[in-house]
Amino acid sequence: MPAVLPQESLITLADPTSAAAEQFRRLRTNVQFADVDRPLRTLAVVSPQAGGGKSTIVANLAVAFAQAGKQVIVVDGDLVNPGQHLIFETANSAGLVSVLSGELPADLALVATPAPGVRLLPAGPPAPNPAQTLNSPRMDGLIAGLLEFADLLLFDTPAIASLADSALFAARLDGVLLVADSGQSRRGDLRSARDLLERVHAHVLGVALNHGHASRGLLGNLLTPA
Ligand SMILES: Nc1ncnc2c1ncn2[C@@H]1O[C@H](COP(=O)(O)OP(=O)(O)OP(=O)(O)O)[C@@H](O)[C@H]1O
Ligand SMILES: [Mg+2]
Repeated sequence: MPAVLPQESLITLADPTSAAAEQFRRLRTNVQFADVDRPLRTLAVVSPQAGGGKSTIVANLAVAFAQAGKQVIVVDGDLVNPGQHLIFETANSAGLVSVLSGELPADLALVATPAPGVRLLPAGPPAPNPAQTLNSPRMDGLIAGLLEFADLLLFDTPAIASLADSALFAARLDGVLLVADSGQSRRGDLRSARDLLERVHAHVLGVALNHGHASRGLLGNLLTPA
């Protein structure tokens, strides 16, 4: 994984008046109004390729929601290569894996982040089978429990190899945001990712186009699925 520079990664907190932070607020608005008929309290971010910007988007979207007055919990569901504790600069000694294995109640595993209104459930110790862990039967109970502590749960997910597992997981949630890296995502990959999500009845809110790395300007367009 490329080195994560926290100040840059968490631009919504480091520089709230920047154009990039504004893009995240726009993404927040688009997500909020993607489907006004359904309350949105649980959301996953997935992408057809590794490194498309999922973790960056989860963290900044969480901050953007918190800046609008929501209590947000970020759940690091990337048990293969977890990164939220790096972005928020928190501990990762206990977390999702500890809670799902029954070692720790969820509220004790939550950690405060530097962003007011955002708490993190880090991934925690390595899981023996990361993909299955995400789809563990205990996950529904965990989600219900966490919802007692927050208005919104935002889930990071692992990279490409686990897209099928991420899709199954996303189907348990209110919505899923598909991230496309404009430099890397091929149209076909994006379409098959969307097809996969729809096959398992995940509720695709839209595609966030990350214009990424060249311009250093972060993303923002939320396109409705075709
Ligand atoms: N729009 C952008 N502009 C500049 N840098 C970006 C942008 N989007 C992501 N990055 C950087 O690219 C790298 C990969 O992003 P990130 O870790 O968010 O992707 P990911 O999809 O979570 O990756 P993985 O699949 O490995 O979990 C990070 O260093 C991040 O800071
Ligand atoms: Mg990631």
